Amino acid sequence: MSHPPDRNLALELARVTEAAALAAGRWMGRGDKIAADQAAVDAMRLVLNTVEMDGVVIIGEGEKDEAPMLFNGERLGTGAAPHVDIAVDPIDGTRLTAEGGHGALAVVAIAEHGTMYNPFHVVYMDKIAVGPEAKGAIDVNAPVAANLSSIARALNKDLDDVTVMILDRPRHAELIQEVRTAGARIRLIRDGDVAGAIATCMPDSGIDALMGIGGSPEAVIAAAALICLGGDMQCKLWPRNEKERMQSLAAGQELDRVIGITDLVRGDNVFFAATGITNGELLDGVRYFGGGAVTHSIVMRSRSGTIRTITARHRWDKLMVYSAVAYGA
Ligand code: FBP
Repeated sequence: MSHPPDRNLALELARVTEAAALAAGRWMGRGDKIAADQAAVDAMRLVLNTVEMDGVVIIGEGEKDEAPMLFNGERLGTGAAPHVDIAVDPIDGTRLTAEGGHGALAVVAIAEHGTMYNPFHVVYMDKIAVGPEAKGAIDVNAPVAANLSSIARALNKDLDDVTVMILDRPRHAELIQEVRTAGARIRLIRDGDVAGAIATCMPDSGIDALMGIGGSPEAVIAAAALICLGGDMQCKLWPRNEKERMQSLAAGQELDRVIGITDLVRGDNVFFAATGITNGELLDGVRYFGGGAVTHSIVMRSRSGTIRTITARHRWDKLMVYSAVAYGA
């Protein structure tokens, strides 16, 4: 049955991530993570509240390092239908922003209500993500070498041409060693595994897989993007300590369970938007000029499969007349 084109919330989400990026971009390189995060959170909350939806925040982010955040359970939007779950990461790469590093993004995802995975108190997950060609070729329980061989086969590549993106963390010493022993290549990143997961779906990125332990909120947000892009992802909860392990068990979570991409986000109408804060491989960062700024965003919707890139030019003299977001200097 065919329907007339319906509303694509992702287009409205572009305004949300643009606002967060414009606000956060002002803090690039100023060494203040909290101020950058607060600016992005405030801008994101303001603009999300203008979207016609009855949204509940499932992934508010920020618990890991007690950063400013949109609160889990917070209601956002005008209150009108549709009823949706919201996942936000006002800055993925807060430290990158504060230090003027590469690849910080403002991101948001929305799906039908009741479809987003809630990691509760477990702030990290062990993740593996790949692009569309390697869909079905991953198993988070399998040894690293087995995953790499399977990905290489799916991509019709030699194993030593496979490139794995990994967060540069001491906890990944063993993973890095296993990838090296298997013979694959590694791209270490300082931060930003949402962009890392998305990179696996971008043919020009040169990234074939993302592996390792990163934030649980970022896993849900990345899953939303990968559903739109046709990629694949598997995760397992990775409690940091006994307290988190006990909290997780008390919440009824099975620590051994493989959390697949459709467990992370079950909906078939998923919307995702990201705007670059600092320059990165996926998106350019905010570029300020006298009296305004230019932003670069990507917006996607799983149902239609449409992926848009949006370059927007913002003018403070216009915006500051009516906007409550403090965009201008
Ligand atoms: P934030 O900027 O939101 O703190 O996240 C950056 C990030 O690198 C994520 O992309 C990643 O999932 C997570 O931090 C990894 O956590 P940690 O820095 O504690 O290893």
